[in-house]
Amino acid sequence: MRKVGIESLGFATAKNHITIEDLAIARGVNPEKYVIGLGQKEMAIATPCEDTVTMAAQAGLCALQNADIDPTSIDLLIVGTETGIDHSKPVASYVHELLGLSTNCRAIETKHACYGATGGLQFAIDRALSGRSRGKKSLIIASDIARYGIGTAGEPTQGAGAIAIIVSDEPRLVIIETGAEGIYSNQVMDFWRPLYRKEAVVDGHFSIQCYLDAIEGSYKNWQQSLVKSENKQLALTDIAACLYHIPFGKMANKAHMKHLDLIGINDKNVANEDYTLRVAPYLEFCSRVGNVYTGSLFLSLYNLMVDASKSFEGKSISMFSYGSGCMAEYFLATIPQNALKLPDFRPILDSRTQVDINEYERLLIANTNADQNDRVFKPEDWGVAENPFIFLGVNDHKRQYIKLP
Ligand code: COA
Repeated sequence: MRKVGIESLGFATAKNHITIEDLAIARGVNPEKYVIGLGQKEMAIATPCEDTVTMAAQAGLCALQNADIDPTSIDLLIVGTETGIDHSKPVASYVHELLGLSTNCRAIETKHACYGATGGLQFAIDRALSGRSRGKKSLIIASDIARYGIGTAGEPTQGAGAIAIIVSDEPRLVIIETGAEGIYSNQVMDFWRPLYRKEAVVDGHFSIQCYLDAIEGSYKNWQQSLVKSENKQLALTDIAACLYHIPFGKMANKAHMKHLDLIGINDKNVANEDYTLRVAPYLEFCSRVGNVYTGSLFLSLYNLMVDASKSFEGKSISMFSYGSGCMAEYFLATIPQNALKLPDFRPILDSRTQVDINEYERLLIANTNADQNDRVFKPEDWGVAENPFIFLGVNDHKRQYIKLP
């Protein structure tokens, strides 16, 4: 079968961050609850000039540059997001212009909570497999700002960021295995955001249970599909790393314990060792950015590709994507020989500005209310004048963006 998959990845996040310990102290919570109990370290906080569009464009540019890809070779742009900015006009439409993509390029938005970009990725994989792309590539971008609100249980699990994925029949970074499919979909009210709200409504503990049920449903579906298509079973030893959707670091631990249980590994010591080997090394980026919703699974993949791509060549990894509501998918990917080397994102994370909790609250409120009509921002007031893409506010009901040369 033809090999198709990911040719490049790019990541972008907000300029400011807080430490999770500062947040815990401000809320009168033992910091160990957030650091150990939730597995978080830092949280990216967007200014009013940074939104779903600017982060998506920055990640897209980064993905194109990381593999030296000409933007005119893109003929499909899908932005998966649950931080929409318009009921009608997709985020992709603005990103299409900001990246200078061809007019002969489809540009659409996909939505199913944190699963949206995975859906886009799978559509692009099918397109590449079908041969209809005729040498052109797809750009899939996951871009989100996770907002639960000040003083809520979800507050320490916020974040902001975008990850861009270039899909083609030249998978220099990751081959997506298409032999078996693990799909699970079920209507549940674990997390949603009504049209009249900027912050999500979440039944947090129920959402964790729904996530675990979805692993079971999608993994079993994948196993049946593998037996049917290739008449084989896969052992855990065939998988070098297990990547998960990561709303907060500890969720990856809960997910892996469920995954191991489904494979038949119940011994707690063995399971803990396995987690340390196959999951924990790829959680650092997410723990420093916070929840990026649609992008968190792929941020973990970026982390793996930066730290371990050489030693993973020829090996398979499992990927689990979960979107509340809910829709989930379990699939396998393989790292090719001579995989493309991605630039480390740590220097950018280190160069962000750390703000205190007063400033965080000011930024959170300003960002949440940024898209009211006839309110224009000065990027220098928010310390983002040098960002490559900037949201200037809404004028005459039209969102205004600029792109630095
Ligand atoms: N030291 C170490 N760990 C501590 C602790 C301390 N002092 N105090 C509490 N903890 C642990 C708890 O034992 C728990 O771990 P466990 O789940 O392994 O038992 C963890 O910290 C969280 O504590 P909990 O009381 O469950 O937190 P919470 O009720 O404030 O809410 C979420 C946690 C995740 C439900 C909440 O942040 C949320 O709603 N987030 C958004 C929804 C989400 O991300 N859902 C995920 C699926 S998509």
